[in-house]
Amino acid sequence: RVTNTRPYSNGPLLPPTYEKLYNKYSEVRRVLGARRLTLAEKILYSHLDNVEESLLSNTNNGSDIRANANLKLRPDRVNMQDASAQMALLQFMSCNLPQTAIPASIHCDHLIVGEHGADDDLSAGIKTNREVFDFLESAARKYGIDFWPPGAGIIHQTVLENYALPGLMMLGTDSHSPNAGGLCTITIGVGGADAVEALVGAPWELKAPKIMGVKLSGTLNDWVSPKDLILHLAGLLTVRGGTGYIVEYFGSGVETLSLTGMATVCNMGAELGATTSIFPYTEASKRYLKATRREQASRNADALQSFPGTGAAEDAFFQFKADEGAQYDELIEVDLSKLEPHINGPFTPDLATPLSQFKKTVQEQQWPAKLSAGLIGSCTNSSYEDMTRVESIVREAEKAGLKPKADFYITPGSEQIRATLERDGTLETFTQAGGIVLSNACGPCIGQWKRHDGVAKGTPNAILTSYNRNFRGRNDGNPETMNFLASPEIVTAMAYAGSTTFNPMTDALTTPSGAEFRFPAPRGLEGPETPFEQGKQTLAVLSQPPDPSVRVAISPSSERLALLEPFDPFPESDLTGMRVLVKVAGKCTTDTISAAGPWLKYKGHLPNISANTLNTAVNAETGEVNAAYDYDLDPSQEKMTIPELAQRFKERGQAWLVVAEHNYGEGSAREHAALQPRYLGARIIVCKSFARIHETNLKKQGVVPLTFADQADYERIGAGDEVETVGLYDMLRNGGVGEVKLRVKRRRRGSKIGEGEVVEIPVRHTVSRDQARFILAGSALNLLARGG
Ligand code: F3S
Repeated sequence: RVTNTRPYSNGPLLPPTYEKLYNKYSEVRRVLGARRLTLAEKILYSHLDNVEESLLSNTNNGSDIRANANLKLRPDRVNMQDASAQMALLQFMSCNLPQTAIPASIHCDHLIVGEHGADDDLSAGIKTNREVFDFLESAARKYGIDFWPPGAGIIHQTVLENYALPGLMMLGTDSHSPNAGGLCTITIGVGGADAVEALVGAPWELKAPKIMGVKLSGTLNDWVSPKDLILHLAGLLTVRGGTGYIVEYFGSGVETLSLTGMATVCNMGAELGATTSIFPYTEASKRYLKATRREQASRNADALQSFPGTGAAEDAFFQFKADEGAQYDELIEVDLSKLEPHINGPFTPDLATPLSQFKKTVQEQQWPAKLSAGLIGSCTNSSYEDMTRVESIVREAEKAGLKPKADFYITPGSEQIRATLERDGTLETFTQAGGIVLSNACGPCIGQWKRHDGVAKGTPNAILTSYNRNFRGRNDGNPETMNFLASPEIVTAMAYAGSTTFNPMTDALTTPSGAEFRFPAPRGLEGPETPFEQGKQTLAVLSQPPDPSVRVAISPSSERLALLEPFDPFPESDLTGMRVLVKVAGKCTTDTISAAGPWLKYKGHLPNISANTLNTAVNAETGEVNAAYDYDLDPSQEKMTIPELAQRFKERGQAWLVVAEHNYGEGSAREHAALQPRYLGARIIVCKSFARIHETNLKKQGVVPLTFADQADYERIGAGDEVETVGLYDMLRNGGVGEVKLRVKRRRRGSKIGEGEVVEIPVRHTVSRDQARFILAGSALNLLARGG
C-alpha cells in the first residue's frame, strides 16, 4: 500500500499513513508551540480528529491536557480476537454499513482447547467451533476484514509481526493489545462497542491519559529477562497503579532490550491497569522489522525521523522518542543491572516475590511445594529469544539425562514463530525433553485447558506459567490452582525440579547417575539468523475487498450466535425502585463478572452467556460465592445463584444495581462484563473505584458507573435495598454536569423491603458529554445506528 507521496517539497517519500502522521503532528506543534512532549503524547495527539478542539477545550488553553482533555481519536486500525470479535461484529452489523471505515483484522485464537497437542487440539477446536469460525470468516469477507484462521496465531503476536509500526495508533478488542507498544505503536485495549465506533468511522474518545515515565538504566543480568522488569513493576505499582496512565519507557537501558522483550513489558502493562505502554523506536526495532520481512517499514520510519520540525518547534520533530526535557506525571527509575528474577502470584499478578525469597515465602504461606505443571509461551512470552533461551537450558538438562518432573507445555504465539522454531530445531528439543507443544492459540491462558494429571477440581495445586494473568480459576477452572507468573526460563528450570522451592540460580538437581547438575545461565538469540518462516500463516486472508453479496452465517436456532436486540433508552426521569442484586466483597474482575473457559463458546449469544454473570463473585454479607437472595418476593429467602436472581429480576422487569469495592472490572477489555448485566436489567454499578476500560464499557452499554464519594458508604448499602437516583437524569441531560446521589431505603434485616431507614449516599461519576448521549440513547450502538 506504499505510495510515493511527499508531505513537503524535496522531502523523502512517505507512505500515506506517515504522511498523515506528519501533517497531524505539524498541527499539534502549531497548537502547542515548542512544548516538550513525551513520545506517547506525540503519537496520541497526532491521531486527533480535531487537534485544536481536543487540545484546547477543558485544558486551560492547552496548559493541562493530561487528565483533562477529552481526546477524540482516529485510530489507524482495529484488531479483534475471535471471542470478542463476535460481539463486535454483531454490533457492527446493526449499523448496516457495507464495509469497515478503517482496516481491521480478526484472529481466531481464544477458542482452541489445549489438551493433547497442537494437531489434535486444532482439529478438535475447529470442529467444535465451526459455526463461530464460519460466522467470523463470512463477516470478514462481507466487510473486507483480514482473517487469520485458527492456528495462525495469537492476536498480539500476529499483530506485532504484521501490523504494528512505529507511530501508528491501533485499538484491539483485548486487554493485552498494548503488546504492540514494544514496536512504538500506541495500542489500546477496548471492548467491542469502542471497536465498532472506530469501525464505523466515528472518532473514538479517551480522557487524555497522564504519562508515567519509567527510566531504565543498566543491563539485565544472566537469569533476568524483560518479564522480570514488568513483574517487578507490578509489585511496585499494584494492579491499580497504572490506572489513567500511559507507561512510557526511556533511558539508556531501553537500548539494551530486544524488541520482543519490550513487547512483553508492554503486554503486561495491562496488569498495572495502564491505558497502554510504549517504548521508543530503537535499533532492536529495526532488526525486528527486518527479521519479519518489513525492511521498507523500517526505511519509512527512518525517513519520517529525518523530517525537520515546523514553526515554533524547529528542534522538536517526530523522533519516535520523547523530547528532551519532556515532563512525566510520575517517574520511576529502574537499574536493570540490579533486577533479579521474580515470581508473581498466586491469584493476582502484583504479588511479586524476588526469586531469592520465593522458597521462604512458599514455606511461610504454606503454598504447595510440588509444582504440577510448567507452561511457557502465549502472547506474552513466546518470542524467538524466549524460546531459544529456554532451549539452551533444556539442552543442558537433557545432556545430563534429566527430564521435567512437572508437565511441561509450550504455546507458540504464532504460526510464524512456530514454523521458525521448528525449522531451527528448538521445538524438537522441547518435545524430546517430554514437552507438549500446544497449538498457536490461547489455550490454557484463558481457561481452555483440559488437564489429564489427575488434579481434581477443588484441590490446591501450584503451576508456573510465563503468561500474564493469574486470577483464580483462569487456567483450568479450578479456583484452587495457584498460578505463579515468571519468565519462561524460570518456569522451565522449575518444571525440571518439579518443585516451587527450587532456585535455578543457586540450587542443584541430581542426575540419574547421582551427579550434581546446575543449570547454566540461559543464552538465546534475539531473533533468527535468517528471516522468520511463514509456515501455514499463508492461510490468512489479507486485504480482501468487501463483498456485499456474502450472507453472514447465523442460524436462527444457534446456541452460539444471536443477533442483538437494541437496549431500551434511559427513562425520561431519575431511576426509581431499583434493587441491589448483590453486594460484592473483594476483587471483582471481568473474569468474575463474565467467566471465560467453557463460557467462551457463548460469546456471540448474549442470552446464553448471561447465565454466568458474576458467578464467582463473593457475597459481602454472607461470605458465599455466587449466592443471592430474593428479599423482595421470596419470604423463605431461598438461596439462588447471582445470575438466577438477575434473570428472575429481568423476567419481572425489576431494574437492579450491584455494589462493589475497588477496581471493579479489573482485568480485561471483556465487554460481556458490561453487556450481560445490562441485558439482565442492571442500570447502575456503584463501587469504590473502577478499572478504566470496564468503566467505559459500562457507559457504552448504557449502565451508569458511579463511585462512592465517601468510601465508607459501602457499608451503608446492601443486597435487597431499594434505590433511587437523585440528580442522575439532570446530570445526563446536562452533558455529564451535575451532582448525583443515591437515595437508599435499607432492607430491614429479616424483614421486608423498604421498611428500613432511608439514607442518602453522594456518588461521583466520570460521564462526559458524549457518554451522556449514549446512556440516554440506551447504548452507544443505539446512537451510532441512528447516525448520532
Ligand atoms: Fe490469549 Fe492469554 Fe494472550 S488469552 S491473548 S494468550 S493473555
